[in-house]
Amino acid sequence: MKAMEELKKEVRSLLREKDALMLAHNYQRDEIQETADITGDSLALSQAAADSPRKVIVFCGVHFMAESAAILAPEKTVILPRLDAGCPMADMITPSELAEEKKKRPGVPVVAYVNTTAAVKALSDICCTSANAVRVVDSLPSERVYMIPDRNLSHYVSLFAKKKMEWWNGFCPTHERLTPAEVVRAKAENPGAVFVCHPECNPEVVKLADHVCSTSGMYRFARATDAKTVIVGTETGILYRLKKENPEKKFILPSRALICPNMKLTALEDVALSLREMKNIVTVPEDIRARAKLALDRMLKVPRDSTS
Ligand code: 13P
Ligand code: SF4
Repeated sequence: MKAMEELKKEVRSLLREKDALMLAHNYQRDEIQETADITGDSLALSQAAADSPRKVIVFCGVHFMAESAAILAPEKTVILPRLDAGCPMADMITPSELAEEKKKRPGVPVVAYVNTTAAVKALSDICCTSANAVRVVDSLPSERVYMIPDRNLSHYVSLFAKKKMEWWNGFCPTHERLTPAEVVRAKAENPGAVFVCHPECNPEVVKLADHVCSTSGMYRFARATDAKTVIVGTETGILYRLKKENPEKKFILPSRALICPNMKLTALEDVALSLREMKNIVTVPEDIRARAKLALDRMLKVPRDSTS
């Protein structure tokens, strides 16, 4: 325990020495969230990276998130402490596959979930996150929209957006593991509990939800609900802050399989090592960066609301 406290102090001191900002996604290990300057969802962290006056960004998350920071803030050094922390969903569509889909739909705008590589964003018209996807899709002037890569988020958006939508058949292996039967069982075992889930869950799971939102939306929902027990349909890392901010409420994960191995790769030792040696820097080639930035900038102009 003492070693962990000393490591946290060392990381904080390295952050000062290197003029670095430490960002942690809501799914990161508890000790990473405890040490970070800012914890948040993909959208909040991209914005924080772009707005920060610090020279270095240490992104504790997965590769596409660090790439987004490098796209938005090319003058900064962006470190991903574990370069092998990828997102399997982001890797489910390649630039050449997207180019083929675009050929089949001339003039139809492509909405790319931020869980995509920089090269795929560069071929897309606008990005979205789970917090703003419906608003992003509805902000487009066209009648048709093609959405990538998540079939589950796309299906969820299609229930609300006033567009004719088609999508790529990707998915998040972690959220896909949650089954409707597990949710039904958790509800039966916890009468009076509410169920909140991420739109990356399967549509059959989403149908059972009292509220569907991004990871940051879950913190707001947990504070606001009168229910004493909340069943949570997303990655286990979310529980750290939910419990800390709502000590009087009970939070239940309906499945033990809700662990993203990539999100759990980063340990505090990796953060210290990468800062000490200023290594594991993520860069994006300038031609790709400039085009991907257009898609991210268009998304950042879409107003955010406080419920998603
Ligand atoms: P948000 O934090 O944007 O809700 O995204 C969830 C996710 O799966 C990130 O990998
Ligand atoms: Fe990718 Fe799913 Fe892990 Fe998020 S939780 S990083 S979408 S695999």
